[in-house]
Formats: sequence, C-alpha cells, structure tokens
Amino acid sequence: MTHPPETQPAPTSMSLLMAMLLLLLGLLLHVVGPSEALHLSSLSVPPIIDVSQKAKLFCSYEMGNRTLNSVKWYKDGHEFFRYSPLTPPTTNWFPVKGVTIADGSSHCNQFICNVELEKLNIHSSGQYRCEVSGDAPEFELIDKAANMTVGVLPKFDPLISGVRRTYKYRDTLVANCSSEWSSPAARLTWYINNKTAPQMQLQPQINEVIHNTEGFPLYASKLQLRLHIDDQRFIGKSEMLELRCVADILGVASLRRESWLRTTIMALRDSGVNQRRAENGTCASARAATFAAWLLCLTSLLRWHCTLS
Ligand SMILES: *[C@@H]1O[C@H](CO)[C@@H](O)[C@H](O)[C@H]1NC(C)=O
Ligand SMILES: *[C@@H]1O[C@H](CO)[C@@H](O)[C@H](O)[C@H]1NC(C)=O
Ligand SMILES: *[C@@H]1O[C@H](CO)[C@@H](O)[C@H](O)[C@H]1NC(C)=O
Ligand SMILES: *[C@@H]1O[C@H](CO)[C@@H](O)[C@H](O)[C@H]1NC(C)=O
Ligand SMILES: *[C@@H]1O[C@H](CO)[C@@H](O)[C@H](O)[C@H]1NC(C)=O
Repeated sequence: MTHPPETQPAPTSMSLLMAMLLLLLGLLLHVVGPSEALHLSSLSVPPIIDVSQKAKLFCSYEMGNRTLNSVKWYKDGHEFFRYSPLTPPTTNWFPVKGVTIADGSSHCNQFICNVELEKLNIHSSGQYRCEVSGDAPEFELIDKAANMTVGVLPKFDPLISGVRRTYKYRDTLVANCSSEWSSPAARLTWYINNKTAPQMQLQPQINEVIHNTEGFPLYASKLQLRLHIDDQRFIGKSEMLELRCVADILGVASLRRESWLRTTIMALRDSGVNQRRAENGTCASARAATFAAWLLCLTSLLRWHCTLS
C-alpha cells in the first residue's frame, strides 16, 4: 500500500529548505562582510542613580573605513565634553548646569569615549547624548541618547508593621508596609503566599512628600493590607501565611527592595484546642471567646464528670 499524496509535499519542503539556506547565507555574508559604515554600537547611561554616586557614561563605536573626527557629549542639547583627536587640545569640556566631570575620568580613543560625572544634583537629571563624527569630506554624524534620573534611593528594605504572630478565623489582619524617604516615590506591592494581594484588600497607597535641602522632593510611601480571614478553609485547617511587601522605583530591578514575614492562621478547631490547653480546662477565662472553644471546654468538662461518677 502506497500513499501517493505523501510524496507530493516533498519538493515544496525541499525548496523551502533551499530558500532558508540561501537566507541564512545572505545573513552570514551580511554579518561577516566588510562593514564600512560608521556605527554607534552602544551607549550606556544609568537610567536612575543615587545623588551620592558617580555616573559613568559609556559610548562605543565602529569607524568602518572613516577616521574619527570628534566625539561630543551633550546634556539636554548642551555640549559638555569633546574629544577631537585631530585637533589639539584633544579633550575639552564646557560648563553645563548639573554636569561636573570627575577629574581624569575621561577615557576616549578610536573605539570608545567614556566620562564620569560627579557631584550630582537635581539638575543632573536629563537626556545625555553621545555624538560621533567622521572626518572630511562627509563629516558623517551618528548619535544615541538616553535619559538619566538622579534621585535619592532607599538604603533599607520596606518596614512591615502591625502583624501579629497568630490570627483566628474571622479575625482581620491589618499590615502596614512603609518605605523609606525616596525620590522618586516607591511603588509598593503586597504579596500573600507569592500572589499579588487583590485590590479590594488594599487601602490606597499614601505618598507623603517633603523637600530636602538639595531640592529633591522626598516621598514616603505607605500601603495598608486589610485581610479579613473568612475563607472557609481556615475552619478546619491551620495555615502559615507569607506576607511580602515589595518597593519598586521606576520598575528598575536592581533597585527593588522587599521585606517579608510569616504569620499563622489558626483553624477554628485548632484555636479551640490551644485555648483549652492554655487554660487547663477552666473555661473561666474571658479569652475563651470562640464558640468552638466553649464547645470543647464543655465536652471536656462533661467527660470529666463522667469519669468521676
Ligand atoms: C567608505 O566606504 C563607503 C562605501 O561603503 C564609500 O562610499 C566611502 O567613500 C568610503 N570612504 C572612505 C573615506 O574611504
Ligand atoms: C527622555 O525623556 C523625555 C521626556 O522626559 C522624552 O521625551 C524622551 O523621549 C526621552 N528620551 C529617551 C532617549 O528615552
Ligand atoms: C498603619 O497605618 C495607618 C495609616 O497611616 C495608621 O493609622 C496605623 O496606626 C498604622 N498601624 C501600624 C501598626 O503601624
Ligand atoms: C515564595 O517563593 C519563594 C521563592 O520562589 C519560595 O522560596 C517560597 O517558599 C514561596 N513561598 C510560598 C508561601 O509559597
Ligand atoms: C496550666 O498548667 C500549667 C502546667 O501544666 C501551668 O504552668 C499553668 O500555669 C496552668 N495555667 C493556668 C491558666 O492555670
């Protein structure tokens, strides 16, 4: 038994394979082939940086068949640094508000041009641009830009407060998460057992603001979690809850800070048993609040009476 239709698609897949091979060859040639065009391969500017740090700016390029005429660094359109290997002085800098080049920090050649900025302040935030130009006759220009935000970044993890060690069914767990003063404001998120807390369990985030001496607006954020423990599963089974609070700044992974703690939700049944143990069966304490505890006390008392008689 042969299946003629099965032999049919063969030529099509062959030609497809050929086409793909050709495409691959083309790509390969393009990549390894001679590249004579001026090319700015990378620009690296910290997207956000603490005011106390130094900002390293990196620019790297490939000149192809051209000669490097100059590399210029700009902040918000104002030139603050120039490297011009053909015309001495080969390095030059210009005053621009918020920009202070660290002494001896510039490092430029035919491939890279790096500078480091120090004494950052609120005016140092902005757009930084690296512009590379080839020499005569074309003076071809290429550039890339990136934004940098100077802020006051938190040094500590957010603080969780108000959480007790144990809760019972029908209790309300109230937890505050507070972040340290920062600029820009931190965005807080609560996680319960690694799942984001639903919106309805959260109070709106509070951002208090003050201005520090350097003119930065500083924000303290607070997010309150209110969890009413009414899930039916807590009637029969005690459970550990892991509460985690995460503080994010502009969504930058390296600036993420978090705190977590664990609390126990005592099942209605277990909390009754514990209560009975704690009170040694007296049933007299005002702390014997739950109906289940009373029930347990009652049954144990009855049993005691039975064994006596
Ligand atoms: C560099 O190569 C390009 C073509 O890739 C050509 O147009 C240009 O004239 C060349 N420039 C120099 C300086 O050789
Ligand atoms: C920098 O920020 C400005 C406004 O804040 C925006 O218009 C611009 O597109 C940003 N530039 C880059 C390169 O991200
Ligand atoms: C939690 O924050 C609220 C609102 O700011 C405040 O009223 C309450 O006292 C705080 N509770 C704790 C335990 O920090
Ligand atoms: C949450 O995730 C972390 C890391 O993935 C893990 O170590 C931890 O056990 C998880 N906690 C819970 C309650 O699932
Ligand atoms: C319960 O019994 C323990 C010893 O078994 C004792 O230390 C404790 O004080 C008793 N508690 C009460 C409330 O009587």
